[in-house]
Amino acid sequence: MALTFTLVEGWRHLLDLCQVREDESVVLLHGDASYPEHVAAAKLELARIGAPTVMLQLGESARRPKSGKLIALGPTALAGNKAAIAAMKAADIVVDLFGMYRGAEQHEIQAAGTRVILVKEPPETFLRLLPQYDDKRRVEAAKRCLENARTMHITSKAGTDLRVELGEFPCLTQYGFTDQPGRWDHCPSTFVAIWPNELSANGTVVLAPGTTILPFKSYVRTPVTLTIRDGFIRDIAGDFDAQYLRDYMASFDDPEGYAVAHLGWGLNRNARWTTLGLQDKFQTNGMDSRCFYGNFMFSTGQNADIGGTRHTACHLDIPMQGCSITVDGQAMVIDGDVVADEQKVRA
Ligand SMILES: [Fe+2]
Repeated sequence: MALTFTLVEGWRHLLDLCQVREDESVVLLHGDASYPEHVAAAKLELARIGAPTVMLQLGESARRPKSGKLIALGPTALAGNKAAIAAMKAADIVVDLFGMYRGAEQHEIQAAGTRVILVKEPPETFLRLLPQYDDKRRVEAAKRCLENARTMHITSKAGTDLRVELGEFPCLTQYGFTDQPGRWDHCPSTFVAIWPNELSANGTVVLAPGTTILPFKSYVRTPVTLTIRDGFIRDIAGDFDAQYLRDYMASFDDPEGYAVAHLGWGLNRNARWTTLGLQDKFQTNGMDSRCFYGNFMFSTGQNADIGGTRHTACHLDIPMQGCSITVDGQAMVIDGDVVADEQKVRA
């Protein structure tokens, strides 16, 4: 997609939601993989606002994969880059078109009060799923259902029956824009999630055909049954898709990769689970799948980001259709339809 007036308007809308003012300093972080149309459109809009902007292009990552090891999640060119980190800590907002790893450097930047908005999807997806102000209200209503809860129970007609305990860790909200000091968000987005208490997840999760596994960026075609005991996946059963998942996870040689991580549901009415099948894998970050309305997003891996004990490079996001979610016995999602956020807003 070329730079268009529509894309510039999209950026105007996003930067408006992020409340970028002319007296704020901005870092526009980008790298070789950033969409040049986004770089150009964001730059134009920041110039229109009149906010002093630094274009910060990161060099190549210093990390080297160990022979035969995958890097799914881990430090990037930002790791140990004192000049880049100092520039971002000094800014009011970072527009991140690079995709900084959500690890120590990002926390340091946020702790300095800098707000961060990440944009990694291509212009077409960015415009189609552009956040609206009301998304924040709906996401925060869902968060109010979750933040003081003690239990979550997920079921599905395909056979999922998973129970977890809550309370040790905070909620993750993504409404697609960043409007408070220190807040990180991802555009496009719109979902709510929470990490279960360590060792508390028990039951079965069935990945029915149509389930998306990220980072594979592909759909499950044959059912996969995950047996979960005391917080960890203990068995992965099924045909080809189970074998693929088993071998992928085993390649990390890391027991912590099997832990149940953030769990939540999507709230974006414009996102579609089918979109992923229409896109080239390198064209998308999979946000349609992560946030489509009424999904149940199951995940595995680290929880150190939010104060837990697990550090692992193996991380899977697995959005599913047609699940039901109850929180402290109250229905949030029934058969893939969100029933809680609107009720809470009316109350
Ligand atoms: Fe995740």
